[in-house]
Amino acid sequence: MSDVFPVSEQWAETSRCDKAKYRAMYERSVKDPDGFWAEMAERLDWMRKPTRIKNTSFEGDVRIRWYEDGELNVCYNCVDRHLEKRGDQVAIIWEADDPNIDRKITYRELHEKVCKLANVLKAQGVKKGDRVTIYLPMIPEAAYAMLACARIGAIHSVVFGGFSPDSLADRINDAQSKLVITCDGGVRGGRAVPLKENADKALEKCPADVKILMFRHTGLDVPMKKGRDIDAGPLMKEASADCPPERMNAEDPLFILYTSGSTGKPKGVLHTSGGYLVYAALTHEYVFDYKDGDIYWCTADVGWVTGHSYILYGPLANGATTLMFEGIPTYPSITRFWDVIDKHKVTIFYTAPTAIRSLMQKGDEPVKKSSRKSLRLLGSVGEPINPEVWKWYHRVVGDSRCPIVDTWWQTETGGILISALPGAIDLKPGSATLPFFGVQPALVDNDGKILEGPAEGNLVMVDSWPGQMRTVYGDHERFVQTYFSTFKGYYFTGDGARRDEDGYYWITGRVDDVINVSGHRLGTAEVESALVAHPAVAEAAVVGYPHDIKGQGIFCYVTLQADIEPSEDLRKELVAWVRKEIGPIASPDVIQWAPGLPKTRSGKIMRRILRKIAANEFDNLGDTSTLADPAVVDELIENRKSL
Ligand code: WT7
Repeated sequence: MSDVFPVSEQWAETSRCDKAKYRAMYERSVKDPDGFWAEMAERLDWMRKPTRIKNTSFEGDVRIRWYEDGELNVCYNCVDRHLEKRGDQVAIIWEADDPNIDRKITYRELHEKVCKLANVLKAQGVKKGDRVTIYLPMIPEAAYAMLACARIGAIHSVVFGGFSPDSLADRINDAQSKLVITCDGGVRGGRAVPLKENADKALEKCPADVKILMFRHTGLDVPMKKGRDIDAGPLMKEASADCPPERMNAEDPLFILYTSGSTGKPKGVLHTSGGYLVYAALTHEYVFDYKDGDIYWCTADVGWVTGHSYILYGPLANGATTLMFEGIPTYPSITRFWDVIDKHKVTIFYTAPTAIRSLMQKGDEPVKKSSRKSLRLLGSVGEPINPEVWKWYHRVVGDSRCPIVDTWWQTETGGILISALPGAIDLKPGSATLPFFGVQPALVDNDGKILEGPAEGNLVMVDSWPGQMRTVYGDHERFVQTYFSTFKGYYFTGDGARRDEDGYYWITGRVDDVINVSGHRLGTAEVESALVAHPAVAEAAVVGYPHDIKGQGIFCYVTLQADIEPSEDLRKELVAWVRKEIGPIASPDVIQWAPGLPKTRSGKIMRRILRKIAANEFDNLGDTSTLADPAVVDELIENRKSL
């Protein structure tokens, strides 16, 4: 039996949703999706109210449309409509990497900045439907840029600042962006990040007509290429602050966000306007019980979907005060999170298990030095949270007073699908608990048969929800193949899960060749391609293995070319090589030399065995009888033991 942390009386009374309300709303949402989601859409301001609500099919060509005859502007909903009531309310609290610097941006200021930037973009020729790549650190300009795109109907593609020039180039080219918004440089944990320099390198691999719009942030002296690079500063000063929001169809694209899969290059996940915003805003309000007066902080980066939905779009659509943090949890010291919470009186705090684990390692003392009295709710996202870590987060960070919402979702889902609601759902440490309104999870076995009652299997969704991705940008066939072909008629998440006797879901992790490193998704195939691109490497196989802080680490088996000798220097060179090819987030944790890889007679690498060996589990390798050369395995085990 697992521990249960029941909803407190106070939460049941004061939160916007208690047990009875959750049950009633959930029932209605699945029995009458059209009625339910029509009502939920009323939280937005529409230029034309939708009358056709749900038009979706997971069969055949797969069609996902919500609110398809509605018209709205996402930026208007996140900014303009709040001006009358909350023009002087803080929209964004910006906390710099340097603990002595912060800035508060009201809705009025946000409006002015966004309109100016929107006019700057227009003057550069950006039109409705054009793609704009955003390569910025966690500074307010990132929010201005995303909202400015939404305002004029351009589709943004944010690329995380930790990606390499090559990765940036791939994303610019796949989206066929003609403009990249960046800044001179970033700073994280006191260390400089050369964003403009990276963008310059990326553009060497892009068409000649791609331009750079550059903000100044760190004051770094960077070369500007005539006719290509544009300094945003003077243009922003001159630009008019009057820019009417574009009238957009609910199904017009809002953004593309690239994410890793089990095969090939990262996919451009496409989200559209109406359904996405309804879903992001509704989940933000219910899961975090957001109310006027809350100071809400999500520690993610805007380069990931969490930053899109729960730093920017969800909170701003709700007229919230959202905190944006440029730095890292350990700079200038490991008390930074708690210092920021006390400094800005944060009431809702949403972070990732990897951060909690790294801070938990340093013990209770650094946390206890802070007050954290303002906190009332904690959240977790990105990977399964170990029950022990959950309990520490609850007892030490939350002083046993704050419920924890463990939110399960994906880039593809647009918003949270499985999570507790703090006033309505009893908590079990390590479980994401129950589905949100309109979400119908199911477990299927490997043949696609639905499993009933308590069970363990592949996690699928039976029907659509408004925040669901619509397609893979430019490749609908890949969308259908990736998500709807493994189990016919269902959306396949790629995750495994267990459902207990109370119907609670426990995510067990990916069942495909995707690994989750510190809450960041990586395809093992991507790392393998990077490795084999090195001249010394003949073959490589990459798997995840259990890592105390990162959740999963990157374990690489590398077979060298016949004439190359393994060495410590070569090992370092390969690590640096992968960092350069993909970015620091893909740094291999372990490289093991492999004279051969375990393959079937048809040449397929048996990753199951490689995962076991990487995890130091040598006893239970399963069936090895189909291997072409079973001796390879013994050799790999010996090498693993001596690592
Ligand atoms: C994968 C999606 C969605 C925000 C960040 C990650 C894993 C995410 C949880 C959770 C267990 C989780 C899943 C999922 N994941 N949240 N609360 N418990 N696992 O987005 O990069 O698209 O990754 O992250 O494996 O499939 P993403």
